[in-house]
Amino acid sequence: MTNAAKQIPVHRGFEHGTDPGLLARHRQEWDRLREETPVFRSDVADHLGYSLWYLLRYEDNLAALQNYELFSSRTVQHLGDSTHRLIPEELDPPEHTKYRRVLSHHFSPKAVRGWEGEIRRLCVSLIEELAPRGECELLTDFSQRFPTTIFLKIMGLPVDLRETFIARANTVLHERNDTDPDGSRRQAATAAIVADLAAIFAARRTERQDDLVTRLVTETIDGEPIGEEQLFAMGFLLYIAGLDTVASMLGYIFRHLAEDPALRAKLISEPGLIPDAVEEFLRLYPIATTARVVTRDTEFAGCPMRKGDRILCVTAAAGRDPREFPNPDKFVLDRSPNRHLTFGAGPHRCAGSHLARIALAVAIEEWLRRIPDFRIADGAQLTEHVGAVAGLDALPLVWDR
Ligand code: HEM
Repeated sequence: MTNAAKQIPVHRGFEHGTDPGLLARHRQEWDRLREETPVFRSDVADHLGYSLWYLLRYEDNLAALQNYELFSSRTVQHLGDSTHRLIPEELDPPEHTKYRRVLSHHFSPKAVRGWEGEIRRLCVSLIEELAPRGECELLTDFSQRFPTTIFLKIMGLPVDLRETFIARANTVLHERNDTDPDGSRRQAATAAIVADLAAIFAARRTERQDDLVTRLVTETIDGEPIGEEQLFAMGFLLYIAGLDTVASMLGYIFRHLAEDPALRAKLISEPGLIPDAVEEFLRLYPIATTARVVTRDTEFAGCPMRKGDRILCVTAAAGRDPREFPNPDKFVLDRSPNRHLTFGAGPHRCAGSHLARIALAVAIEEWLRRIPDFRIADGAQLTEHVGAVAGLDALPLVWDR
């Protein structure tokens, strides 16, 4: 071992999804770790033959996410590989660029603005169902239903599949090893999603409609139609990328709003400020941690990394790095600049960011219009999960009817 290597901090047994410190004090714990050990090695993947390197500073995260030649997206899992390859997320340029171009076209700001009216109608109908109740559990009653309904509409799938789709996504994304030791529940849910997608792709090949699936089956790459397997991989990614992320962000945003009546009042009187508020919520509550595979022996951020090692880009730690964001724990409505990494960076920067921003802004605006005053239910103990996507486990809210 070299002298430089000797000084590298090692956190034995550290894994962000199960670390008790993170589960107890998510944001504060990342802050503490970032200031004490901005880059550290964990030995939890040693038995798989590689080191895991956690990157916590903004600057290192940005540099790593942009450097796709040194840090490959061959898999974005940190322990083992994905059972189903996600396209385009688990491809590197130049292959990635071809698929990404197809998605970027369908999720451009202009395309997404065309969906806004429908998104708003779906959102209003969900909130109007809830408003007379005077209470809800935000995540199951609203945050998961809203993006799932958007997904079903965009894909041209029937909206009455909503609860089935939510249950499957929850199994794929949140089933734990203790409740699903051999992974069979996750595998079954994944197979069910792929079967749904296969059926809808097959139907649209023969009967075209004005929806995203029809557009995907008629796209070409290098002059050829996109293959079945690649189509499923794209559909599967859209399914899981859009549901959990928007739902989790809504959880953090509504917890913040429930505790900040002055901000609620400001956004109600000046709804034109909501897009700025969304940007600052994204900066303050980043949710994604994504992995990359080191492609050659190198030194990065002062650490000796070996080919095959994996890095973890922790956007939750980067979003509150005081070197990039003054007063990082404060919600600053007009923060500028606000170059957060919540949607990632580099070639894989979130393809759904325009859709996500519109969905979040519409949810805030329409909720505050109908339920301007709300609070967290007395005695609620809020707990969080931390993993590829972090989120609150539940958010019980109450308001006067
Ligand atoms: C607030 C909500 C969202 C957040 C925070 C978020 C975050 C991210 C992040 C951090 C990445 C980069 C992952 C990596 O580098 O490995 C990503 C990629 C991606 N996201 Fe999102 N996302 C959100 C919503 C959505 C939505 C609504 C969709 C679409 C329906 C979507 C589709 C995608 C796709 C397709 C990719 C892969 C892009 C590529 O590899 O080129 N996301 N997202």
